[in-house]
This record gives sequence, structure tokens and C-alpha cells, in this order.
Amino acid sequence: MGAQINTDYSKVQQNYLFSTIAKKVSEFQVANPGKEIFRLGIGDTTQPLGQTVVKAMQDAAARLGDVKTYTGYGAEQGNLPLRQALANQYTSRGVELTADEIFVGDGAKTDSANIQSIFGLDNIVAVSDPAYPVYVDTNVISGRTGSAGKDGRFDGLIYMPCNSDNNFMPELPSRKADLIYLCSPNNPTGAVMSRERLGQFVDYARENKAVIFFDAAYAAFISDPDLPKSIYEIDGAKECAIELNSFSKSHGFTGVRLGWTVVPQKLVAVDALSEIGFTTPGQINGLWKRRQTTFFNGASNVVQAGGLAGLTEEGMKESRELVSFYMENARIIREGLSQTGLKIYGGTDAPFLWMKTPGGVDSWSFFDRLLNETRVVGTPGAGFGQAGEGYFRLSAFGHRDKTIAAVESIKANLKL
Ligand code: MLT
Repeated sequence: MGAQINTDYSKVQQNYLFSTIAKKVSEFQVANPGKEIFRLGIGDTTQPLGQTVVKAMQDAAARLGDVKTYTGYGAEQGNLPLRQALANQYTSRGVELTADEIFVGDGAKTDSANIQSIFGLDNIVAVSDPAYPVYVDTNVISGRTGSAGKDGRFDGLIYMPCNSDNNFMPELPSRKADLIYLCSPNNPTGAVMSRERLGQFVDYARENKAVIFFDAAYAAFISDPDLPKSIYEIDGAKECAIELNSFSKSHGFTGVRLGWTVVPQKLVAVDALSEIGFTTPGQINGLWKRRQTTFFNGASNVVQAGGLAGLTEEGMKESRELVSFYMENARIIREGLSQTGLKIYGGTDAPFLWMKTPGGVDSWSFFDRLLNETRVVGTPGAGFGQAGEGYFRLSAFGHRDKTIAAVESIKANLKL
């Protein structure tokens, strides 16, 4: 026998969701030359970096051009001043973290894909449905599931349906789960988990010795002070949760790439090789360090300098301006489309809006209709899981004029 490929790839869709959409959009463009397209699909940022960040990256690049200030590989977990500044960000929420609990990476997508690899293959995984496709696909590709059934759901995964009946907030897993993915503010629904619901998950995880992967990449978009921005605002979460976050949306780093993952020293999981049956404090943090130092050489030093500047008072002011800009887009979309009678959710503490497809049409057909009738690109809810069928996601990360034009085009041209 020769080299064998990983056949678990045959279980997932041939293309990643946003690659499929990009392909459909370019086909439309070829068929309709000269027609302007309004992109509210992938959550890709459009506004420029803050000047504080730009200047810091220019200076960092200049330091690399001089032998006296040149540096090579950076610190293993990320530069200490950056990790310290990130830890300081949590103190305003009453959360104490140490710099050694923070790992700097090249974005939350990478870490949310890789974090499962330090946990065994026999773990039962629970995901919200709909969910960011990376959570499901990486577990399928790693061999933790069976194949997808006709409904697109994978054998062996626990799905936590999120719909209008539960305000798009996941409920506790229906059977025992070991690894639980949560994302709040949610991609794709734009719903934000309440302190109470998050508390129920933390209690569940502690009772069942489960670990929660909490994706907080959109936390900067929460304006309601009662909503948790970090899972560590919930008592006991350090024993059961890993948190992922990113500069992508708060600072416009989707192309620059920078994120971080918190692995608390107190985190506990089952260790079959240990006499006590459980990991000791710091052990999982050490596993992630081992994983990262083996597979990754750290985020670019120029980018880390930009991130550090982004966390200064001036950098955070620029970030808040960016966030407000996108949230104004969200308001424009929400209010504009609500006038047409479309049912819109999310978009108040999150940069995504979740819309019921009119007339119950399936979400990929609605994608085609929206593109053909209005030239607006969105994301079909079914791309995020079975419970996303009948829904459609719109992103608030567009240019202002294009966002307004998209809303006007839907109002004028969509045949409801
Ligand atoms: C999305 O559109 O869901 C996001 O842009 C995906 C991502 O951040 O990777």
C-alpha cells in the first residue's frame, strides 16, 4: 500500500462554505459583467486600520531593517508586553488572568480549529446548530464523528439547536458531552448568551468534567453592560473553559491576522494516564504550549507590535470607532429590512443579522434569488448547519455606501 490520504475529508463538503459562496459570486459576475455586487456575505472587514496600529507596525518593520534592532523568533506564547496588555483588558470585567495563561496566535479561526487536537478522539462533541463551520469540520476531519446523514448532521456529534423559540441561545446538551463549543456574540445568529445561560453551561461542564471552547471573537460588539464579554465573568469558568478571541473584527485585522487563546492554569479534564484520573493544574496549559511550540512559530512580530498599539488608550479608542461604524451598518440593515416585513434577528450586540427567509424558501435558493434580484450577497443559513435552514445571514462589515445601497436594492427589487 502507498501513501494514504485522510479519508475523513470525504465526510465534509468538498469546499469550505465561504469558498463555495465566492465561487458562486464570481460565476454571477462573469455572467453579468458590469453589474455592481453588494457584499454582505463573509464577515470581512472593510474599514482601514487605526493610525496608532499602522504607525506601530511601520516602526516595527523599520526596526527589522536595522542590525541594531533586528529580532528573529519571538517569545513562545507571544510577546510578553502583548500578553500582559491582553490580561489587563480582562481586569475591567473583574477577571484576573496571568500572562502565562494567554497564547498569542494568528487568529481565532486557527486556534478554534486546532484546540480540539489536545483532547482525545473519544470525546463526545457538542455544537450549537447553526454554528461556525470550523468547529464541526475540524472534528469530522480529525475522526471524531461518523458520516453525515441526509439531514447533513454528523453521527456522533451532539447538536444544540438554536431557533426563535429559544432566542437562538443553545440549551444544555441532550446527552453527556465532553467538549462543548459556544460562540457569543454568535456567528451566525448574532444572539448573545445571557449571564444566566452561560452560567448553566459552566455548571454543566464542571459537573460533567466537560471542557467548553468559548469563542468570544465578537465580544467587542456587545454594548449591553449586562451581557458577558468573557466566559471567565462566570464563577468557576476557569476550571472548565478555554476562551478564544481575535483582533480581526475589533481592530480590522482580518488580513493582518492576530488572535489569542486563554488556557487557565486551573482548567481540569480527564487524564487516563494519571493515578488521580484528572489533569493537574497547568497541565492542559502545558499541552497547548507543547502543541503550539511544535506546530507554530508565533504570530508575526510586526503584527504583534500592531496589536499591542491597538490595546493602548488611543488604539482602543480607534477600535471603538470601528465597532461603532459597523454597528451603525447593522442598524441600517436591521431597520431598513424590518420595514419590508422581513423578520430580522441579531445585529444589536453583534455584527451579524439573521433573517428568516421569506415564504419559507430554502436558504440556498434564497441566496440565488437575492443575488439575481438585488445583487446582494449574503450567507445561506444552511451553510452553518441544519437548524440554519430557512434563515439567512447578513454581515455588517461592509462599506457604508454599499450597505445602504444593498438595503435599498433589497427594498426595491426583492420580490416578497
Ligand atoms: C464569517 O464570515 O463567518 C467570518 O468572517 C469567518 C471568520 O472569521 O473566519
